[in-house]
Amino acid sequence: MSSFGYSFVVLITLFCFFLTRAYGLPKVKPIDDVQPEKTLAVHNMIRAAVGVAPLVWNDTVAAYAQNFADKQAKAGICGYSDIKHSGGPYGENIAAGWVQPRDQMSGPIAAKYWLTEKPNYDHANNKCKDVCGHYTQMVANQSFSLGCGSYRCHENELIWIICDYYPMPVGDANTRPY
Ligand SMILES: *[C@@H]1O[C@H](CO)[C@@H](O)[C@H](O)[C@H]1NC(C)=O
Ligand SMILES: *[C@@H]1O[C@H](CO)[C@@H](O)[C@H](O)[C@H]1NC(C)=O
Repeated sequence: MSSFGYSFVVLITLFCFFLTRAYGLPKVKPIDDVQPEKTLAVHNMIRAAVGVAPLVWNDTVAAYAQNFADKQAKAGICGYSDIKHSGGPYGENIAAGWVQPRDQMSGPIAAKYWLTEKPNYDHANNKCKDVCGHYTQMVANQSFSLGCGSYRCHENELIWIICDYYPMPVGDANTRPY
């Protein structure tokens, strides 16, 4: 009888495991991953640190970003190497991160992640030592407004954040972001 009890426990455990695998995490509204107010606040803190005027939230731009996100989700574009920019009229930053083991991606987290490129930007020479284009987009004084969208992959476990900026900054060798 005791061996039966044991396998019963194992069966239940396996059953739960497969349930989790089959259904993944519950769906979340894209806007809850974007967190517009906090995303905007983080951007504006980063801009204020270098004396650049704050952005405002732009619903038109946010709708554009969410429309692109929905298309990506529908096409099942989930791999880091498969992602491409939307190619629209805006500046655009994209980031991804996993929900587990703890929240590792959202609009505000994406903005903080892009901030890690700040040391790569050489303002005196207007050059990147390594990747810094996400950072320079966040602080570009030619952009006035921001809108972001999001989608999830892998049974809602991987979050993609897409932020678009209006107007798109010039971002050439002669035009500093600030
Ligand atoms: C928001 O975006 C739209 C479309 O790009 C643009 O026409 C409008 O001026 C923007 N609004 C702000 C406040 O930047
Ligand atoms: C943006 O930064 C550039 C480079 O420092 C500066 O020449 C320009 O006046 C700034 N524009 C605004 C709108 O602050």
